[in-house]
Amino acid sequence: MIPLTLARIAQVTGGRLGDRTDPGAVVSGEVVIDSRRAGPGGLFAAVTGERADGHDFAAAAVAAGAVAVLATRPVPMPSVLVTDVPAALAALARTVVDALPATRIAGITGSSGKTSTKDLAAQLVERLGPTIAPAGSFNNEFGHPLTVLRADASTRYLVLELSARGPGHIAYLCRIAPPRYGVVLNVGHAHAGEFGGLDQVARAKGELAEALPPDGAAILNADDPRVMAMAARTAARVVTFSVNQHARRPHQSLQSHVPQPSVRAADVRLDDLGRPSFTLLTPEGSAPVTLRLHGAHNVPNALAAAALAGELGLGLDGIADGLCAAVARSRWRMEVHQRADGVTVINDAYNANPESVRAALDALAHLARSQLAQGGRGFAVLGHMAELGGTSRASHEDVGEYAARVSDSGLAGLIAVGEEAAPMLDGARRVPSWTGEAIAVPDGAAAVDLLANRLKPSDVVLVKASRAAHLEGAAAVLLGEPGP
Ligand SMILES: Nc1ncnc2c1ncn2[C@@H]1O[C@H](COP(=O)(O)OP(=O)(O)OP(=O)(O)O)[C@@H](O)[C@H]1O
Ligand SMILES: [Mg+2]
Repeated sequence: MIPLTLARIAQVTGGRLGDRTDPGAVVSGEVVIDSRRAGPGGLFAAVTGERADGHDFAAAAVAAGAVAVLATRPVPMPSVLVTDVPAALAALARTVVDALPATRIAGITGSSGKTSTKDLAAQLVERLGPTIAPAGSFNNEFGHPLTVLRADASTRYLVLELSARGPGHIAYLCRIAPPRYGVVLNVGHAHAGEFGGLDQVARAKGELAEALPPDGAAILNADDPRVMAMAARTAARVVTFSVNQHARRPHQSLQSHVPQPSVRAADVRLDDLGRPSFTLLTPEGSAPVTLRLHGAHNVPNALAAAALAGELGLGLDGIADGLCAAVARSRWRMEVHQRADGVTVINDAYNANPESVRAALDALAHLARSQLAQGGRGFAVLGHMAELGGTSRASHEDVGEYAARVSDSGLAGLIAVGEEAAPMLDGARRVPSWTGEAIAVPDGAAAVDLLANRLKPSDVVLVKASRAAHLEGAAAVLLGEPGP
């Protein structure tokens, strides 16, 4: 963080200094809410959660070197007392942003693929200069300001992930660190239950487009009509990307009244492990790209990252090289592991919603198809998709039906983990031609036991569920690793 005295921190957060607190003491290290991550020169923010009270860990944080504690009640160590810790973090983060006018800020939102795209974009933008991007999915009212607070005078770029569970959330995050560049990936069913439907999700995601200034760029997915409609809600220049509209080559655009998307992918193909190769088409020219990430859904993510990096000034060669070199930085998203016995395990257990499960089933079907000659079959271990509201049951049935249809013969086995996932099996049974097994199990351990008797070399297993199901543990056991 840029160095700030405790007096200044109290001033910008509307707080007051606690007893035995030196107003001139300077915070220059990281601001953290996990005392185990506290270090010299840092600030520990005590958050009161459902399970734990951060104030109980204040002493440990100070012992680890934290200069002071941001607290909501008196603590026996140097402190700044505030009424609301997230609001204080937001005010502090905004102070840091305002002190760094040369730092360019990009925000990425969408229902699926934010973290994947943010990790790709960060690896491109780092080629231009010092970049701060969150680790994993630090994208809410805590993670967002904590990420912004890591910026200092050397930071040239902030590449941020913005999440929304309701209207106004993204607008709030944009006030903390006003983005000049905004990427909207897609509008899908993640948290749709909380929002009340896709149009409401679109309304909320579009708050990013609305927050952009006239000299900024709104980078929109031309393949998603709800995202494209956000072009009418922004003062910024609109830049588009598309996987589907690749057929129109530049000369053909002259015949069309609709401008072709700025960044496109042509000739997309997947290798045996589902890694996409494609020709990247940009206003600057074209270049071949092969991703190290798995799944066709990473193509739009890569195009979005390319469009953002291009806006920030990275040339076509840097973008293409960067995309080819980029690795998966955040765990449990489409991790493809091969066991010694020849079984492939796709650990995509980080989270699940209807669109992301379909994307993962597509990848599973592709991998299984490429193992077909060796007798390989596909198995899906799927837990529930959370927060879908009234459409939950139907959405689970539809995903099950999709699993049964996804490749010519469908999957060899669909294993639904937990009661809420069970309707997937009803959906799969709606496909009369499907001959695979549909099995309900109570938990991840039972899924692992069941597969132990079934898996043969060359089989491919996908493990996926909403975060709450913690199926990454099952994936680890399948791989013979100690659980996470
Ligand atoms: N563009 C995409 N379209 C559909 N599904 C996707 C896309 N990108 C990623 N996914 C799927 O979503 C999963 C989660 O990806 P990622 O973590 O990048 O999303 P996120 O938007 O950050 O999610 P969260 O809301 O949990 O932060 C991936 O493992 C993959 O199954
Ligand atoms: Mg995320």
